[in-house]
Amino acid sequence: MKTIYLDNAATSFPKPPGMMEAMNSFQRDIGANPGRSGHGRSIDAGRVMYEAREALAGLFNIDDPLSVVLTKNSTEALNIVLLGALAPGDHVVTTGMEHNSVMRPLRYLASRGVDLSVIECSPQGDLDPADLQKALRKNTKLVVMTHASNVTGTIQPVAEVGRMVRQRDGVMFCVDAAQTAGALPIDVEDMNIDLLAVTGHKSLFGPQGTGALYIRRGLEKRIAPLMMGGTGSRSEFEIQPDFLPDKYESGTPNALGFAGLCAGVQFIVGQSLRAIREKEKLITAAFLQRMEGCPDVTVYGPAEADRQTAVVSFNVRNVTPSDAALYFEEECGILCRPGLHCAPAAHRTLGTFPQGTVRFSFGFFNAPGDADAAAEAIRDLLKG
Ligand code: ALA
Repeated sequence: MKTIYLDNAATSFPKPPGMMEAMNSFQRDIGANPGRSGHGRSIDAGRVMYEAREALAGLFNIDDPLSVVLTKNSTEALNIVLLGALAPGDHVVTTGMEHNSVMRPLRYLASRGVDLSVIECSPQGDLDPADLQKALRKNTKLVVMTHASNVTGTIQPVAEVGRMVRQRDGVMFCVDAAQTAGALPIDVEDMNIDLLAVTGHKSLFGPQGTGALYIRRGLEKRIAPLMMGGTGSRSEFEIQPDFLPDKYESGTPNALGFAGLCAGVQFIVGQSLRAIREKEKLITAAFLQRMEGCPDVTVYGPAEADRQTAVVSFNVRNVTPSDAALYFEEECGILCRPGLHCAPAAHRTLGTFPQGTVRFSFGFFNAPGDADAAAEAIRDLLKG
């Protein structure tokens, strides 16, 4: 039986061949510790890290590659911001569609005296920016929100919120782009994004264990590091460097992974983000169309390819999400993710807590026929 991978929102598969080759070549020909030793191969490893920063900066219209902090994933990037910027008495605003990478640090901070407002979204997962604006207060320090839900793919009005937050002195705007970096256009200037958290292993086509955080210059003064230690810079001092990116990058980094991430981003640029989005949109639209008028299937979220990423959550009447996913794998060769997707807040908003949903997430490497196969699998399940 052919396997059809529909779990790209968890991690993209397959990866472009150039990504594997870049990692191979790093380990074979360089393999040294970046920014540490001063010999030629250590300098080469540092160059690979810089090229990864440059590639990410180019993709998101970031003017200075050194304001791109390399992390192990978007969770680490978000934790740097949330734990590093917020103190008791501060107010933070988020939405009812967030992943636990935002909600868990925020709930922890709330238990320590940070004031938290969670703005409700519609049952399709849409945020009304006016609701968010009403929640801003004198002591609001940060607005943090997802660019698109990992459960429904709902694309949020990030540019509109960014404009609104920019007018408020001293409020930082942080976007969780785990589901959109490499899938949708992101321009930190146009969208007024101060802090952008991305993961490398989803639509950026890098390996697992890579991610990044863009920090708008100057804001590093307001965000404490999550970890401290050796950076290869200012080794004469026993205090952490206060400049970007070293302030947030202690310990030997995953240079091998960033070699792969850089190649993943170069693949996106080579294909063009627009072409990638168009292809993913076509597959999503085809699948959604096949689900229309299917009385035993409930699709959650916008159910419009223009308004969502290539992620579709649904339930099949009288079948639990995990039973459905097991059937899809064993009988149809379809790999997907059932349950709560580490986003209980989003499922509460959709009304699918605690049972969750089945999530099919398409990617650039899916064939158009995979939408038919996915719809056929649901029909077979219903027949069975
Ligand atoms: N956050 C990832 C997902 O949505 C892992 O599956």
